[in-house]
Amino acid sequence: MNSLLIKDATVVNDGRIQEHDVRIRDGRIDEIGSGLKGSGSETVIEAGGLHLLPGCIDDQVHFREPGLTHKGDIATESAAAVAGGTTSFMDMPNVRPLTVTRKALADKYLLAEGRARANYSFYLGATNENIDEIRAVKPTEACGIKVFMGASTGDMLVDDPDSLAMIFRDSPLLIATHCEDTPIIHANEREYRERYGDEIPLEAHPLIRSAESCYKSSSFAVELAREHDARLHVLHLTTAREMELFSPGPVDGKSITAEVCVHHLYFDESDYKEFGGRIKCNPAIKTKADRQALLQALVSGRIDVIATDHAPHTVEEKQGSYFEISAGLPVVQHALQSVLEHYHRGVLDLELIVEKTSHAVARLFSVEDRGYIREGYWADIVLVDLNKPTRITSDQLLAKCGWSPFEGLEFKSSIITTIVNGQIAYQDNTLTPAIPGQRISHGVGPR
Ligand code: DOR
Repeated sequence: MNSLLIKDATVVNDGRIQEHDVRIRDGRIDEIGSGLKGSGSETVIEAGGLHLLPGCIDDQVHFREPGLTHKGDIATESAAAVAGGTTSFMDMPNVRPLTVTRKALADKYLLAEGRARANYSFYLGATNENIDEIRAVKPTEACGIKVFMGASTGDMLVDDPDSLAMIFRDSPLLIATHCEDTPIIHANEREYRERYGDEIPLEAHPLIRSAESCYKSSSFAVELAREHDARLHVLHLTTAREMELFSPGPVDGKSITAEVCVHHLYFDESDYKEFGGRIKCNPAIKTKADRQALLQALVSGRIDVIATDHAPHTVEEKQGSYFEISAGLPVVQHALQSVLEHYHRGVLDLELIVEKTSHAVARLFSVEDRGYIREGYWADIVLVDLNKPTRITSDQLLAKCGWSPFEGLEFKSSIITTIVNGQIAYQDNTLTPAIPGQRISHGVGPR
């Protein structure tokens, strides 16, 4: 296999920032040092002035296979992922057919083979009826069990109290929840429909999918996890109030963990006026105070992971009245750059960004040999230029839906090179022909 030598990079890893050379051989990191000499056959990447980070591990994406491939597919969306510095992804089960059986899970892994540019793992979805499938799933077969405790895209609401109790009592894997209380949302929808008919303004989205609905559902999930001693990971948190449900400090040893998504860190309710339906997602983007609390919770450790919930819909599906506009944003291609904006603003430091986008995700999901720049680990890495601004234009977009909520914005950093399993997957604004993605191995650790 190929061999690469990255020279003079500023490596951000394991809580430190140091100048290093990194040699990659047979897909893995072979040597980290200084003054490393290239053998004649090695490809040398001169990385002076660039930052080398472990590739992002995104624990929540919707790449839409099988069955929803008019919105996106594993090949197109993983291309967008590597262009953004994401080297591994964990995909959600709200596809067609739903990934709610072990057979559907196995079929989905077959679909990804040879087509994913980044490494992959999939969730088994929960329903009110599939407890036997959940009980039978092995830690090697899925990254976790996805439970929609609030209804969103796809028909996957789990609202039967007995089913929820059984899932939390018996799941052999981490339970990842979407938390919004559907009865509260339905009551708010009725109220707004009475007031506005079909002309509900987008600004009402965070009032319909309200902070109250989030708190009611996420506090219920935490209660269930405590009662049944379950391993709970609450996805895409959006409100200041929910932060009290989570403990500060490092992820290790926690049985209840939390995730935030890049768009909830970047946008707030003042953006509905300009971005409209483009930033409609579930849970909704909320207030500026909520956004600030989410950023603070990353620093205190109440939130453990930054992800994307990359959820492409076509341009047509994002138009129409409030109820017609599909919820979800395609953000994976610019996830890291958008998070680095918080570094440039002095809110998050680089070591913390690497912890939340890669190290902590690897530990939380017991990902084997990925998530760190370490000798012997798979070479999943990204070279970033923190001083090269990029303006997001439609011609660069790789997600199949062809639009991004970030279009027209300028980010202060650029993704220069993404390496997956030791192969250059993306370099200088261009995808390479390599399709290096492999299935992620999950150990039997603390997941
Ligand atoms: O906004 C969202 N879109 N939230 C979800 O939970 C699902 C996602 C989708 O699949 O479109």
